[in-house]
Amino acid sequence: MKSKSSAPGKIILFGEHFVVYGVKAILCAINKRVSVTAEKTQDAKISITSNIGSMISEPHKPLSEIASPLKPLYYMADKMIKDQNTGINIVVDSEIPPGVGLGSSSACCVAGAAAIIGLFKRESSREEVLNLAIQAEKTIFANTSGADCTVCTYGGIMSYDKINGFEVIASKSNFNLVVANSNLERSTESVVAGVKQLKERDGALFSALCSDESKLVDDVLQLLKTGSNISELGQKVVRNQRHLEAIGVSNDTLRDMVKIGQRESFGAKITGAGGGGCIFALADSSNLQRTVDKFRENNYICFSTSIDFKGLDTF
Ligand code: MEV
Repeated sequence: MKSKSSAPGKIILFGEHFVVYGVKAILCAINKRVSVTAEKTQDAKISITSNIGSMISEPHKPLSEIASPLKPLYYMADKMIKDQNTGINIVVDSEIPPGVGLGSSSACCVAGAAAIIGLFKRESSREEVLNLAIQAEKTIFANTSGADCTVCTYGGIMSYDKINGFEVIASKSNFNLVVANSNLERSTESVVAGVKQLKERDGALFSALCSDESKLVDDVLQLLKTGSNISELGQKVVRNQRHLEAIGVSNDTLRDMVKIGQRESFGAKITGAGGGGCIFALADSSNLQRTVDKFRENNYICFSTSIDFKGLDTF
C-alpha cells in the first residue's frame, strides 16, 4: 500500500527571525507543493529519493550518523517503524526550490509526516502530523520557531507565535505577491545563528527591534482585518525590511532586488531567513505585470503566486 500526501510552501509576510524570540509573525501558504509518497518494503531499510539527493540506511541508527539533508524523513520513518520488521521507501517530488526561504524543507516534513503516519494508522489529525513534522525539522534546525511547518499544515494566511500557536486571518485585503529568487542558497540554521550572535552582542538594540516589529505586526493585523488600502500595507512591508537590514540578514543582491520591488510595487522585503533566498513584492492588478517585467529585465527569476487555502492534503 502506498500512502501519499502533499503540503504547500510558504511566504513569511512579516516577522521572520523575530518570531524565534517570541514576536508574532504573519505567514501565508503558496500554490507550490511538495508531494511525498511512502510505502512499506520487505527489506529492513529506509530509502529516500528526492530532488536534493537520496539516501538508504538501516533503521535505528543514531541520528548523529545520518549526514544527509534528508535526515528529517529518516527520523520520522525510523520513529514510526519502532520495533516492526519493515522497511520504508519514500519518494519526494517538489515544486519548491530548496534553500531559498519558500518552505521546501518544512513542506517536506509536513507531507512526509502525513505520508509516513498513513502507513501505520488509518486516521491522523493535522495536529499529530504537525507535531511530528516539527520534531523532524528540529533534527536539522534545532531552534525552529515552528511557524513554517504550521502554515504548511493548515494553509491560508495566519499569525503565529511560539507560545499561542497560530490564528487564521480572515483577510479582507486583496493583494498579489511577486516572489523574486536571488538563487543564492543558504542554510536557515546558520542565518538564525548569526542573528543570535547579534542579539548576544547588542541586547538593547535587538530588544528595541523586537518591540518595533511587534508593534508593526499588530498594526498589520489591524489593516488586514479591516481590508484597508494596499499602499498602507506596502509601507509596513518597507518598514519590516528595515528591521531585517538592521539584524544583518540582507546582502547586496537582496538589496538590489528589494529596491526594484519597492520602486515598482507597494513594498518589498526579504521573506524567510534571508542571507540569500527570496524577496517578495506586494502588488495588485495596477502594478503586478510591471513588477514582474522589471525583475525579469534585471535578470532575476520571479513568479507571481497566489495563496493556498488547502494546506496538507492526503490521498
Ligand atoms: C525561516 O523561514 C523563518 C525564521 O524565522 C526561522 C523560524 O521561524 O524558525 C528565520
